Amino acid sequence: MNIFIPPARHLSGDFGSYSTLTLPGDKSLSHRAVLFSALAEGESRITNFLDSGVTQVMLTALKQIGVQWHLDGQTLTVVGKGFDGWVSPEQDLYCGHSATTIRLLAGALAACQIDVTLDGSDGLRKRPMGRIVEPLQAMGVDIQASPQGTAPLVIKQQRGGQKIRGGTLHLQQASAQVKTCLLLAGLAATQDLYVIEPGPSRDHSERLLQAMGAPLSVEGLTVRLQPLTSPLQPLSMHLPGDLSAAAFLIVAALITPGSELRLEGVGLNPRRTGLLDVLIEMGAQLTVAVTGETAGEAVGTIQVRSSDLTGVTVSGDRVVRMIDEFPVLAVAAAYAHGQTLVKDALELRYKESDRIRALCQQLSAIGVAIQETSDGFMIQGKGHIPGGSADSLGDHRLAMSLAVAGLASENGVTVAGANMVAQSFPCFFEILQAMGVSL
Ligand code: S3P
Repeated sequence: MNIFIPPARHLSGDFGSYSTLTLPGDKSLSHRAVLFSALAEGESRITNFLDSGVTQVMLTALKQIGVQWHLDGQTLTVVGKGFDGWVSPEQDLYCGHSATTIRLLAGALAACQIDVTLDGSDGLRKRPMGRIVEPLQAMGVDIQASPQGTAPLVIKQQRGGQKIRGGTLHLQQASAQVKTCLLLAGLAATQDLYVIEPGPSRDHSERLLQAMGAPLSVEGLTVRLQPLTSPLQPLSMHLPGDLSAAAFLIVAALITPGSELRLEGVGLNPRRTGLLDVLIEMGAQLTVAVTGETAGEAVGTIQVRSSDLTGVTVSGDRVVRMIDEFPVLAVAAAYAHGQTLVKDALELRYKESDRIRALCQQLSAIGVAIQETSDGFMIQGKGHIPGGSADSLGDHRLAMSLAVAGLASENGVTVAGANMVAQSFPCFFEILQAMGVSL
């Protein structure tokens, strides 16, 4: 699907309890809430669940292994039967484009002791799986990837009553998917498991597992999980709005003159808010207020007005705290004045696309002065861009970022492969329309 995004004016929106506009539920929390509930004992109820391409593959896979759930609008109920309640599926579990689904499921399936093969789209088959397979093997899990270290992943039940081992695992990358996969497998371990990562990846799993009664503690970048002595408790949780979805709307308002936006109920976990810090450093008129908490997750309000932005350097731990936001940061940087430099961001090459290369190709095509580096990119912001045609390359965040870029461009932007937005933000274009964009 191609979509033309014309230059827009005065975007406005009020997302909240008294408004017709609502942000989709957080993607990372939606995945975790349904999967962890399926491992608990009892019925869980999750409201503001994200119903999108990537969560549908998780739901379908869980159904194939015997988990009962019911989705009514955005309200999901899940009947958890504990670690013995899952059955070997008749067919491979298809994880579509979703790396979160395949990596998290692999850990949980290892804990549940069933024979299963996990596979996905051609795009997913290119994503690195050695990062979960090797540590899982070190824990004694019988799991194999393809010779290239990619999906399909074949997991076999432990033979001869062999148990999953604990121990200390040092991650090579700051990755919440890898950390969560290992913690889920560790739920079945007979000794303490320590997972140590090199940077502060999102800690939703730690918070949720603690809220469900798991004996888990965190010190700095070390997570310690002790053997479970009682089943995980079911969840009752309203999921916060997805800050990574809000990011597109925030940047849209910042770069489109005369715009004003208010977002309520947004997830503000400090390990997710790197983009907000960077935008404020760029000069964004942005106010952020924490108003409450749900299952250990901070929730709050964000207000934003169109602003003159200046270039910035992003590196180190900040990269980890905004790992999904670089496509839209690049758009903000293109409309800023001066140079923006992103470094220490090699992980971007292993996302739904090689996001360093893809951003450089596609933003160049619409007139942005962007240059690739080995672990990031450099943009010379000129305050405006001409526009033109670009392709999502099958990457949902690239599709939405290119659309946002069109809003303040001179001639508009045509986005090919715009249907990819349905993977994480199905109502993205309807929301743009409600904010005043004519599509
Ligand atoms: C996610 C972790 C991140 C992020 C992805 C969701 C998660 O991936 O990019 O969109 O829910 O754990 P990595 O763990 O590969 O950094």
